[in-house]
Amino acid sequence: MGEHIPVVTLDGPAGAGKGTVSRALAQRLGWRYLDSGAIYRSLAVAVMDEGLALEDRAGISAIARTMELRFESDPSPRVILNGRDISDRISSETCGNLTSKIAALGPVRQALLQKQREFRQPPGLVADGRDMGTVVFPDADYKIFLTASAEERAFRRHKQLKEKGIDVSLTRLTNEIEERDQRDRERSEAPLKMADDAFLVDSSAMSIEQVITCCLRWIETSRLR
Ligand code: DC
Repeated sequence: MGEHIPVVTLDGPAGAGKGTVSRALAQRLGWRYLDSGAIYRSLAVAVMDEGLALEDRAGISAIARTMELRFESDPSPRVILNGRDISDRISSETCGNLTSKIAALGPVRQALLQKQREFRQPPGLVADGRDMGTVVFPDADYKIFLTASAEERAFRRHKQLKEKGIDVSLTRLTNEIEERDQRDRERSEAPLKMADDAFLVDSSAMSIEQVITCCLRWIETSRLR
C-alpha cells in the first residue's frame, strides 16, 4: 500500500463560502487545493466553444476526458484551458447555469473522476465541491459540509458581482440560486448531499474568518482523536 495522503473535503451549495474557506484551509495546512467546480465550469466553456448540444453526452464526455486544464495560482488564481486563459469566462452566471446542467450528466461525472483524484498529492489536499466527501474522496479524513440560507448566499453573490461592476437584481439571483440548488440536489448522479460522517457548518450568521477558525479547530480535534 502507498503512503496515506490526507484529504479535507468541503461540500455544500453555491455561495456558502466554500471557495474562500477551502483556499484559506489549504494555505494554512500547506496542502494542495482542488476547485472541482472550476473543472466543471471549464468543461462548460469547452462545450460552448465546440458548439455541442446538451444532449450530446458522448461528445461532452469525450471533451471531459481530453481537455487540458492547468490551474495557476501566482500571482492570482487562473484557469488555463488548452493553453487559453478562461478565468473570467468561467465565473459568469451564464457559465454557472450551463455548468449545473452539464454536471447532472452521469457519464460526464464519470469522465472527470480521475482528473479530480490526481490532485491528491502529498502532503495533503483540500477538495472543494458538491460530491467530494460522498463520491470523489469517500475515504477522506475530514469531511465538512458548509451551508448558508439561500437569501444570504444570494446577498453575498450580489455584493461580489457589484464589486466587479456587474449589476443584477437580488431577486433574480436568489431565484437562480434556488433553481441551481434544486437541480444539484435532485439529480440522480452524485447529488448534493451531506456525507453521513461530515461536520455541518451553517455560515449564515458567521464571518469568513469565523468559519475558517471553526473548520481548523474541528480538523485539529479530529486529528487528535
Ligand atoms: O462550485 P461552483 O459554483 O463553481 O460549481 C458550478 C456547478 O458545478 C454547480 O452547479 C454544481 C456543479 N458541481 C458539481 O456538480 N460537482 C462538483 N464537485 C463541483 C461543482
